[in-house]
Amino acid sequence: MLLVEARNLPSHVGIIMDGNGRWAQLRGAARVEGHREGSRAVRRVVRAARRLGLRALTLYAFSEQNWSRPEDEVDALMLLLRDFLLSERGEILNNGIRLNAVGNIGKLPAIVRAVLDPLRKDSETATEMTLTLALSYGGREEIAMAARELACDVKDGRLRPEDITTDALRRRMPSLCVGDPDLVIRTGGERRISNFLLYGLAYAELHFSDTLWPDFDAVDLYEAIENYQRRERRFGLVGKPAPPDEKLAHTSNASREPLAIDNRHLRLVG
Ligand code: IPE
Ligand code: IPE
Ligand code: MG
Repeated sequence: MLLVEARNLPSHVGIIMDGNGRWAQLRGAARVEGHREGSRAVRRVVRAARRLGLRALTLYAFSEQNWSRPEDEVDALMLLLRDFLLSERGEILNNGIRLNAVGNIGKLPAIVRAVLDPLRKDSETATEMTLTLALSYGGREEIAMAARELACDVKDGRLRPEDITTDALRRRMPSLCVGDPDLVIRTGGERRISNFLLYGLAYAELHFSDTLWPDFDAVDLYEAIENYQRRERRFGLVGKPAPPDEKLAHTSNASREPLAIDNRHLRLVG
């Protein structure tokens, strides 16, 4: 039985959805089949996140570097993205989800923009959860863009160099308008960040899962969050004094306000 504390949810969760190609390869199928199954996983995980009450979920769907993949794979990914946005539009609008996109959105093909732009606009006042798709996104690119904007402000006399603080930089980063990520999950077994949310990652908790993205489901998300809740975030400060029996403190749920998740079903208790 997984116990997730309702009061200690990460507010912003980022996911590096990796492993689609290997999922297909294991089945002797084309990579695009892995991406298709991956978009079903996106649907499951968005629903689970919304049900759990996460405030912000950022999904790394396509990196700036992914443009250099074979053209047929890129084309297939763009079609799947369009299909996803079309099929989820109703559910997004009916469930108070604000759909946002970060990255070099101008580079996306018109078939994607034609569904993405209206959905962003039509959901912009929703307040239950912000679902951000990182598309044509790169963390370094985002930092460079923020630096360019600040440089222009200084050049035009709107800002003094000494006003370029860590907060000033953060405010120029669209991926962080929902706050720094508290938890970043990477599926697919690699232990790397691959240019995701670099600036905001400073104090994020990292969770690496060997599950290939198309196999990732609600229970995997709950497990990652339960694991997050066992950690002590210190932000460079000193930790709480260790309890007398360290082992007991890690396994006991006695002091928790549990939100119990029984297998695939979310059950609110207390
Ligand atoms: C993640 O899966 C999807 C994208 C990067 C678009 P991959 O396509 O990277 O799958 P692997 O890592 O090759 O298995
Ligand atoms: C990261 O995965 C990008 C996305 C999940 C969209 P990649 O498969 O592109 O990253 P690398 O090549 O393993 O670093
Ligand atoms: Mg990959």
